[in-house]
Amino acid sequence: MRFSDRTVVVTGAASGIGAAATALFAREGAVVFASDIDVESGKKLAEETEGDVRFVRCDVCDPAAIEALMDRAAEETGGIDTLLNNAGAGGARESIEEIGPDAWDRTMDLLLRSVAMGIRYAVPHMKGRPSTKKGGASIVNISSVAAVGPGYSPTTYAVAKAGVLHLTKCAATDLAQHGIRVNAVQPGFINTNIFTASLDIPDELKTQAKAMIAQMSSNAQPVARGGEPIDIAEAVAYLASDAAGFVTGTSLIVDGGITLGPRHSWDPEEGGAFEALIALEEQVKQAQQTA
Ligand SMILES: NC(=O)c1ccc[n+]([C@@H]2O[C@H](COP(=O)([O-])OP(=O)(O)OC[C@H]3O[C@@H](n4cnc5c(N)ncnc54)[C@H](O)[C@@H]3O)[C@@H](O)[C@H]2O)c1
Repeated sequence: MRFSDRTVVVTGAASGIGAAATALFAREGAVVFASDIDVESGKKLAEETEGDVRFVRCDVCDPAAIEALMDRAAEETGGIDTLLNNAGAGGARESIEEIGPDAWDRTMDLLLRSVAMGIRYAVPHMKGRPSTKKGGASIVNISSVAAVGPGYSPTTYAVAKAGVLHLTKCAATDLAQHGIRVNAVQPGFINTNIFTASLDIPDELKTQAKAMIAQMSSNAQPVARGGEPIDIAEAVAYLASDAAGFVTGTSLIVDGGITLGPRHSWDPEEGGAFEALIALEEQVKQAQQTA
């Protein structure tokens, strides 16, 4: 029960990583304010999840709605101990050659400004909580392996998620004086609706597409299975807990090792450039012996 007597606010709680984190926090004693734009799924989550889960509709693109969410959590419970800035979607798909300013701004508002405003409106309710003395007052921001480099997502998403990492560090320094830690998690490919939510295809094809992504990613990373929302929820819970009291301004990559390097660096079956050089040397040696 790491989160007894704690108030936790989660954005984008109705699905995937947010839903898994909500369930974990609630199971371990927190009062969780689970927010989302998806009212139907959010209400269902609150009804069906074990523990004290209260659904609040909140569009993180609307700063006034974020402020109202934080105020409500504080009014009902006396303050906020943990904020998980998680809401997101794939955002604009256009390349940098094609994107227009409105599509750019919409994606940045959803993925980056939302995190800044979440922190902005939660912090007044986090200051002075007993958890600030125990190392347990904590903000966790969901970034992505897309922040490591290109190739994991569309460009605008990747830039926004890199911004989340830098915001995490800056906020950690700004808020240290109040005993509030700020960290990020960078998920790899996790089996959620994010890849298919914006696709205009029937539901059964979406299920197939999700399975395809899980299969492709498990083939491309050292940990040979698809990532699941609980893998990320566990990392979030650690960073939010008192056990991480000495951890701030950092980011935890939870990706099955997909960012470690190309396949030949971890799969002995796959020859890389170094192995090719050794083989060449061996060939030369054999040729010399034969001559
Ligand atoms: N799944 C992955 O592979 C992966 C990888 C890296 C990072 N992430 C990040 O993890 C976070 C959670 O995504 P997920 O994979 O669980 O996806 P998901 O689609 O399962 O869940 C995202 C949730 O955010 C909500 N949401 C979308 N727009 C919103 C808005 N404007 N206001 C409030 N809520 C909104 C959706 O309704 C949904 O419930 C996102 O920030 C995403 O970028 C996911």
